[in-house]
Amino acid sequence: KPRQDNPLYALLEQAAAFYRQQLRHHPKKERAVSYLKQRGLTGQIAKRYDIGFAPPGWDNLMGHLTTDSTEVKALIEAGLVVENPDSGKRYDRFRDRIIFPIRDSRGRTLGFGGRVLGDDKPKYLNSPETPVYHKGQELYGLYEARQANRQLDDVLVVEGYMDVIALAQHGVTNAVATLGTATSEEHLKRLFRIVNAVVFCFDGDRAGVQAAWRALNACLPVMEDGRHVRFLFLPDGQDPDSLIRSEGQDAFRARMVQQAQPLTDYLFRHLAEEANPDSLEGKAHLATLALPLIEQVPGSMLRRLLRQQLEKLTGMDLDTVPRQPTPTVGYE
Ligand code: UTP
Ligand code: MN
Ligand code: MN
Ligand code: MN
Ligand code: MN
Repeated sequence: KPRQDNPLYALLEQAAAFYRQQLRHHPKKERAVSYLKQRGLTGQIAKRYDIGFAPPGWDNLMGHLTTDSTEVKALIEAGLVVENPDSGKRYDRFRDRIIFPIRDSRGRTLGFGGRVLGDDKPKYLNSPETPVYHKGQELYGLYEARQANRQLDDVLVVEGYMDVIALAQHGVTNAVATLGTATSEEHLKRLFRIVNAVVFCFDGDRAGVQAAWRALNACLPVMEDGRHVRFLFLPDGQDPDSLIRSEGQDAFRARMVQQAQPLTDYLFRHLAEEANPDSLEGKAHLATLALPLIEQVPGSMLRRLLRQQLEKLTGMDLDTVPRQPTPTVGYE
């Protein structure tokens, strides 16, 4: 557990200030500014998310923040400077990238994401795990979402930085991102302390579909009665950023209302693709897949309704079925 006064927080804050400053005053800032404009972002939204610019060069940040050798060690610990294990050479992790600060729910900067300005690889670079940044716990944009909404009723979970920011740019200010890591039970516990409804909206591609099924599995053990989880699947090739930019806020919200599927619908629909209940064999298969998932649900009402639904689909009285060992279901 990080101590409250961990000096890394102050260092990360100084780094955020440096990157922010570079976006305003660096001689090469124009490329970064026009990149953000080209992606449809205004200065106001860039400010709300504290977007910055890491200029080209190997030691801009190091040169700016280092005064003695201990501080380079701290910069390495903070994930801002990388040390080559063979040569011992040290250099800034983020170079010639748009910078997105990742904050905790109190607004403290924990780390950064950096996007290339063009098509280079890797497209995104993230801070590593550090004593203050734990990827499996943090949700990008949660601080900003709480700042923007006096009362948050539901949260939209998306994949990336640009999805969160583009949605906010178009007035959907309740999105958070898992940043390329799988949705964890820890993420969900954090969200359900704040809201009782979560909508997952991942990219309309293979990775997004897999992320959704994994998210459903992470949700099952926290599905208390009174909690709502829905899944919105996007058209092929679209992500929340591209979609809200092309169709606007109203159409996007209408899509959420009309097309987001409750977790329980998605669960049975997905399992029925694997085990078609048209035959007795399919019904038996469906029951063996569904039962161990249903039994993870802590909400006793929801668990009972799920069992009833499975009974309806299979025509079976589940009370007479002994407990099954857990089979594995492919992420598809
Ligand atoms: P995507 O691969 O969907 O990003 O990754 P994208 O939509 O193509 O990116 P843009 O719109 O061109 O900017 C979604 C998220 O996964 C993480 C990032 O957090 C990204 O926002 N990711 C992706 C990485 O960490 N590294 C990568 O190389 C790619
Ligand atoms: Mn991509
Ligand atoms: Mn994608
Ligand atoms: Mn995407
Ligand atoms: Mn995108």
